[in-house]
Amino acid sequence: MHEFKSRRNYLYCEDIRVLDLAQRFGTPLYIYSYKTLIDHYLKLKAAFKKIRPLICYSVKANSNLAILKALVDKGAGLDIVSGGELFMALKSGCPVNKIVYASVGKTNREIEEAIRRRILFFNVESVAELENINRLSKRLNRVTQAAIRINPDVEPRTHKYITTGKLTNKFGIDFKSAYQILLLRRALTNIKIAGLHIHIGSQITESQPYVAAISKMVDFIERLKKKGIKLEYLNIGGGLGIIYDRETPQTAARFAQRVSPLLKKTGLKIILEPGRFIVGNAGILVARVLYIKSTFKKKFVIVDSGMNDLIRPALYDAYHKILPLRATSHRLQAKEKVDIVGPICESADFFAKNRSLPKLQEGDYIAIMGAGAYGFSMSSNYNSRPRPAEVMVVKDKVFLIRKKENYQDIIRNEIIPSFLLGL
Ligand code: LLP
Repeated sequence: MHEFKSRRNYLYCEDIRVLDLAQRFGTPLYIYSYKTLIDHYLKLKAAFKKIRPLICYSVKANSNLAILKALVDKGAGLDIVSGGELFMALKSGCPVNKIVYASVGKTNREIEEAIRRRILFFNVESVAELENINRLSKRLNRVTQAAIRINPDVEPRTHKYITTGKLTNKFGIDFKSAYQILLLRRALTNIKIAGLHIHIGSQITESQPYVAAISKMVDFIERLKKKGIKLEYLNIGGGLGIIYDRETPQTAARFAQRVSPLLKKTGLKIILEPGRFIVGNAGILVARVLYIKSTFKKKFVIVDSGMNDLIRPALYDAYHKILPLRATSHRLQAKEKVDIVGPICESADFFAKNRSLPKLQEGDYIAIMGAGAYGFSMSSNYNSRPRPAEVMVVKDKVFLIRKKENYQDIIRNEIIPSFLLGL
């Protein structure tokens, strides 16, 4: 499953003791296992080997260049959602014909850059956007490929903030409107509608919602075929859930087994856009206990990392397993219920609530597990806190893949106007 394992009572990442990394690089610290990252990509690839889909890793889950390059080198494409992510994708060396671009709010500048670079296609989320891409392509004298993102109106049974395939969500285009667009596609002189796209949500632990959505797509594609509308691609998005706590998500193999018969029916080239499945369990966040504070009602373990480093518990009430880096002594065996909290001035600044954990003391280190996806990529400088370093472990070697920020980094783009300087 992943390469963070306990050996001789210490937590290891591959062949390196996590405690040694914490002491060497300081905390908070993001640590990634190269093997776990690549294994997950390969697992998905193997599960779908009969269909040979293009797997476009979703950059938003973790956009560190080393992570992107590691995956791109293994043949992955990339799913992007902004000009910044296009920049990152190009920097990572991703071939442009393996880049797909979604987002409900692409600006002209972002669209033009992606047209110029000749990405594989845009996942288009509205009629207005389609017309805009057509207009901009015309101006640049290009014919641009697009996939219509369909909102299939299915319930993915996940957190409401990460549900995207219901008609109450802002994403995609309903079937009826998509059909109209496809009938009138010739009016779009500078766009080739090459495919269809869905992405129904994230952290989806069962196959059923995918089966429901893809079945609708199969029917739709049939209907289009009858009208003589031929497509090349079906992009089924990402969203595969992982184990944070006691979830029992579908395995890649089971997922492939359930959806492959449907995908084959379409006769189209298949694209997947997984983010969390690939990188989620490949990363942890390490923090150090600063203080223990007991009130009449609670015991708080205050650590040196906060919601600015990992916002998922604050934003989604997300569960992340917490492990001490060293679990030998008697002290660490006795369990107690605590809140693990950060130093930030918000009550939502917590990593765990009422969690039964081995007794912790000042100076102990903890690992917050499953922090590889939407961890660093959603981090901020809130409370003027420099963002942590990121390191990648490959067997018994460690590589710094992002330096810890310093105070100068925080003010780098700030300007005090001359009138305040008395000039
Ligand atoms: N494709 C599209 C169009 C997406 O919007 C997303 C994620 C993905 C692919 C990748 O989904 P994944 O395989 O990682 O589930 N911040 C939230 C997750 C937000 C997901 C946004 N879209 C979290 O921390 O749980």
